[in-house]
Amino acid sequence: MSNIREIKDNRLFFDGCDTVELAKEYKTPLYVMSYTEIEKRVNELKEQFTDKYPGARVAYASKAFCCVGMYEILKKLGTCIDVVSGGELYAAKKAGFPPERVEFNGNNKQPEEIEDAVEYGVGRIILDGLFEIPLIEKACKKLGKKANIMIRITPGVAASTHDFIVTGKKDSKFGIPLDEDVFIPIVKQVLDSEYLEFVGLHMHIGSQLFENDAYLKALDVLMDWAGKIKKEFGADVKEVNFGGGFGATYIDEDRKPYSFFLDPMMEKLESRSKEIGIPTPNAVIEPGRSIVAEAGITLYTVGQIKDIKGIRKYVSVDGGMGDNIRVALYQAEYGAVLANKAEEKADEKVTVCGKYCESGDIILTDYPLPASVSQGDILATFSTGAYGYSMASNYNNNPVPGVVLVREGKSEWMIKPQTYEQILQNNVVPGII
Ligand SMILES: Cc1ncc(COP(=O)(O)O)c(C=O)c1O
Repeated sequence: MSNIREIKDNRLFFDGCDTVELAKEYKTPLYVMSYTEIEKRVNELKEQFTDKYPGARVAYASKAFCCVGMYEILKKLGTCIDVVSGGELYAAKKAGFPPERVEFNGNNKQPEEIEDAVEYGVGRIILDGLFEIPLIEKACKKLGKKANIMIRITPGVAASTHDFIVTGKKDSKFGIPLDEDVFIPIVKQVLDSEYLEFVGLHMHIGSQLFENDAYLKALDVLMDWAGKIKKEFGADVKEVNFGGGFGATYIDEDRKPYSFFLDPMMEKLESRSKEIGIPTPNAVIEPGRSIVAEAGITLYTVGQIKDIKGIRKYVSVDGGMGDNIRVALYQAEYGAVLANKAEEKADEKVTVCGKYCESGDIILTDYPLPASVSQGDILATFSTGAYGYSMASNYNNNPVPGVVLVREGKSEWMIKPQTYEQILQNNVVPGII
């Protein structure tokens, strides 16, 4: 159990807060995020990457968990951020996030999003296709600015993870395939443009990875193309973005230190640069889940229990697929405990389901909980900090739960829970009815 999770007097504590008391005070369902855990991960990245390698940067992948409070934390801790939409950029602006520390990704950036990004002066735009070039140039021309461009490649390497989170293989909606007649003209167009400043190459091969071989293979491919760019145009790749994807612990996965991935990659970056004849490019990474997954738990209250004789016992909670779609989407698995019976023996396998009208609205399948589980108990699911809140929906008009930030025994709202009124605020009755 991670050290921000503790059990005292039969209760689960998270970053020093009694989770049963949190459930009482803030009501469930409730996301709880730990400041201490986020800070710990960022400090690991500093020690193992940015302090160790000159010019290295961490751009937190906002898609894992985005809100103004999160950006305030990262502003303070000194990271950069990666945004993938006008909405994430808007939150970054609200937090006054320094524009030069914002990187803009996305496979189908909209003209207005591009204009917003250029106007704000983001540090990097990660080009994901030919289509974006005239849009960025148009925005730059209008606003009298230049944009720093990274080109995202599809390295054609298949990482071993769930199919839905593999992004580096050639058959992918992300990145630019490395066909000579496709890739080289794009690089040329960027280099020739009076509005675009070619900075380097970007890759992201997938998510929840525990081995470094696919990263190294992909980096080799990327550096082959850095060599071709040097040969063809005499241009240096000044920056390489390795993407994110470093695995987090959900149940008992053996989480690897960042250095396990990054040290051999940095070694390769240096040796391949020498071979090509360019100065070693600055390295950037975009971790999301490995910073916030374990920093989050979700608290639910147990409601109806259905014991279907000889089949299974369904334990229903007051949330479900609206606050955690990852189980239905990726067959994701989580660990859990009854927060108010944390020392009781988990001696019965049950299936925990949500309150949404879908049979697939399941949180835990055949998971051991105490046989005494009953209405009113508080269930805590672990490692829900990444892609939980950020993928939440209003299915069945259920409000999205709030997020409480906890830090060494103190707690405060970071995102208040949505209300019914807010769900309906854009509803209008058309006159043609
Ligand atoms: C371009 C890019 N960078 C970074 C990430 C973050 O990945 P992870 O949260 O697994 O670190 C993603 C995830 O989809 C991504 O698409």
